[in-house]
Amino acid sequence: MGRNELAGDFRLGDRPVNRMGYGAMQLAGPLVFGPPEDPAAAVAVLREAVESGVNHIDTSDFYGPHVVNQLIREALGPYPDDLAIVTKVGAERGDDGRRLPAAAASPAELTRAVHDNLRNLGLEQLEVVNFRVMLRVNVPAEGSIEASFTALAELQRQGLIRHLGLSHATPTQFEEANRIARVVCVQNRYNLVHRQDDAFIDRLAAQGVAYVPYAPLGGFRGLATPRLAAIAANLEATPMQVALAWLLQRSPNILPIPGTASSAHLRENLAAASLRLSPATVAQLDSLARA
Ligand SMILES: NC(=O)c1ccc[n+]([C@@H]2O[C@H](COP(=O)([O-])OP(=O)(O)OC[C@H]3O[C@@H](n4cnc5c(N)ncnc54)[C@H](OP(=O)(O)O)[C@@H]3O)[C@@H](O)[C@H]2O)c1
Repeated sequence: MGRNELAGDFRLGDRPVNRMGYGAMQLAGPLVFGPPEDPAAAVAVLREAVESGVNHIDTSDFYGPHVVNQLIREALGPYPDDLAIVTKVGAERGDDGRRLPAAAASPAELTRAVHDNLRNLGLEQLEVVNFRVMLRVNVPAEGSIEASFTALAELQRQGLIRHLGLSHATPTQFEEANRIARVVCVQNRYNLVHRQDDAFIDRLAAQGVAYVPYAPLGGFRGLATPRLAAIAANLEATPMQVALAWLLQRSPNILPIPGTASSAHLRENLAAASLRLSPATVAQLDSLARA
């Protein structure tokens, strides 16, 4: 049994995945642009993740661009039957690294992006495609996503996509999209100190919809605070392990996708699945968001 099976599983679309997943964004070059300095190390991290029981990997053709998907294909293809590779479309980068959000949400660009993902991952069907809402780049913002999601639903009908999800979406956008086609997961920013989606998570849990917190460790800026460090030291764990264990205990539909380019950090993160937090520790951790 792989270490990571200790996290238990949750249904993503129509298959159970291990709740502790892996986010591949950190495998690209600096600022998620271009190739990594050491592609062999990136390939090794991906292989170790899967060998350790990870069967939910988050990616996008936006990462690199193309670089991360190509690394996943090199490292893991032909893919194990139980591996769910979840990608996202709706954002794009120019050759100079600039973000090109608006154009990427048009039906024509979404179609192109789905084909790019299929080609770079070496797949005939994408397991889950998240529509990354880019009405505002850094915070979810209200606005209709009907045209974009309808275009993706059509690609699903054509058989290019198995399941659809949303990223950077509001509850209103979830309802709108779910009327067009079933939404199996929502991927928003959420962690110990960034808890704007608390009520949304509970509503999704009641409907059996997976919630995938991105930046579960605080993203590029990290989560390090002296109080978290003290709580972790008491548990003989690291702050990152406590942050991940807290997410796993927060709600059964939460599927964390911690990102790392380091094998040592990968092992540390997966080991967090066996860390149990007492109600008193959870209360202490909950107070970090209010601090
Ligand atoms: N939908 C979206 O808009 C969106 C946005 C951002 C990210 N994502 C997805 O979410 C995934 C996770 O988010 P993220 O990668 O931005 O942030 P994250 O998982 O919160 O944190 C990643 C950062 O933490 C470091 N780290 C990881 N494990 C560590 C450990 N045990 N100890 C110390 N440092 C550690 C990593 O550096 P090292 O490489 O040195 O370990 C990296 O700098 C991404 O990989 C991507 O797939 C989605």
